Amino acid sequence: MDSGANALIVVSNRGPVSFEWDPANGRLRAKRAAGGLVNTLGPGARRHGALWLAASTSETDKQASKAALLADELVRFWPVPVSHERYHAYYDVISNQTLWFCLHGLWDTPRRPRFDRHWWSAWSSYREVNELFATEIDRAAPRGATVLVQDYQLALTPSMLARRRPDLRISSFIHTPWCSPGELSSLPDEAASEVLAGLADGGPVGFHSPRWAAAFDDCVKAVLGRAAATYVAPAAVDAGDLKKVAASEECEMERVALDEAVAGRKLIVRVDRMELSKNILRGFWAYDELLETRPDLRGHVVFAALVYPSRVGLAEYQAYSQEVLSLAAVINARWGTPDWTPVLLHAEDNYPRSIAALRSYDVLLVNPLRDGLNLVAKEGPSINERDGSLVLSRQAGAWLELGDYALGVNPFDVSQTAEALGRALDSSPERRSVDAGCLRRVAEMRTPLDWFDDLLNAACGSGSGRYPPEQLH
Ligand code: G6P
Repeated sequence: MDSGANALIVVSNRGPVSFEWDPANGRLRAKRAAGGLVNTLGPGARRHGALWLAASTSETDKQASKAALLADELVRFWPVPVSHERYHAYYDVISNQTLWFCLHGLWDTPRRPRFDRHWWSAWSSYREVNELFATEIDRAAPRGATVLVQDYQLALTPSMLARRRPDLRISSFIHTPWCSPGELSSLPDEAASEVLAGLADGGPVGFHSPRWAAAFDDCVKAVLGRAAATYVAPAAVDAGDLKKVAASEECEMERVALDEAVAGRKLIVRVDRMELSKNILRGFWAYDELLETRPDLRGHVVFAALVYPSRVGLAEYQAYSQEVLSLAAVINARWGTPDWTPVLLHAEDNYPRSIAALRSYDVLLVNPLRDGLNLVAKEGPSINERDGSLVLSRQAGAWLELGDYALGVNPFDVSQTAEALGRALDSSPERRSVDAGCLRRVAEMRTPLDWFDDLLNAACGSGSGRYPPEQLH
């Protein structure tokens, strides 16, 4: 293999695009994937002309790759083919229902988790898919290549790869929070050790916040009895790209439509995946309490919640989505009047509409139970046009960077969140302007390319015959 090609490889479960047939001309076309990881990784991958490996269960992806179609002009896409059955076990059962829940503290403990033989069979599939990734990277990577592995879906791949290919420079990055040793101990012992060693023995492991890096290190010490090589690299917004979308005709149309619906009232906005850890229900309960305790606000405020579908195959997400929809309806029935709808709930994936809402908010509510970073907390201040305030969970990784200029909340405390929303709505124009200026400055201090460089630098301290991993510490 030509050593110049594929010298940089990025690897993630979800790829930068999915391919679909264009009915207009019968050709394959690329559709931009949703989600923060892709936006964070994209600019660096493009700048370096990286090869991007991601899981694919679709025949169209395979055909696109055979036809050497590019994900865009600059990134090449290498699908890692996984059967539907195996993907379900690896993605739904282990990555999302087990690891995601454990890392975010989401267990409904009287019922779940349940580590039975079905779970163990899914765990085997998780191992196999991680091994498949290692095999494909091994095939794609020339000697000495740099490999950046992303996230908890691929926690075993870094060490599997390092064992096979000591010549590679590998770093991994976890976009989620990391949990405490006590929380991790709910996983079966063998699985917890495999996940920790899978990451720690495959080069340095990065996190968005020092808090998650420290928690990972605590877990490695508690379970494996040694220290881990970690690094911290908070992700950043692509302000140029955001501004381009904000200036687009589609976004402008959405902004006009939103303006009409809000009709000069104050606007609270949230933009999230329909996701349990985003704490959408408590956000609505807080708004309900605000309307109850502050009669002066009734009729004068609208809460636009843009929550796009996510992990729709999981029963927990379907049930949560139903609860969110019914709660919004209950609040509207309770407080609404013929000319005022207190909650505008949009549960579709409409990126220009989300950007229009971020341009227009008076208050942005970001109240996750726990979050690796939360990119929306940076995207909002970067493109908001009304000196809007930020109500931010102290459990979001972004709190460390933005907390000084935001109204902090304990995400479990509904009354405190209601009070913070009220204070944000009451904030004077002078206060808003100062805070919004500071938030914007902090949000734009780094770029996705800075973040990408941090991953590259971390990888450069690994590999090149420096395996076994003891030598990395
Ligand atoms: C989080 C995870 C990513 C994931 C994204 C969207 O940001 O850290 O790995 O891609 O959510 O979730 P999904 O399961 O739809 O890819």
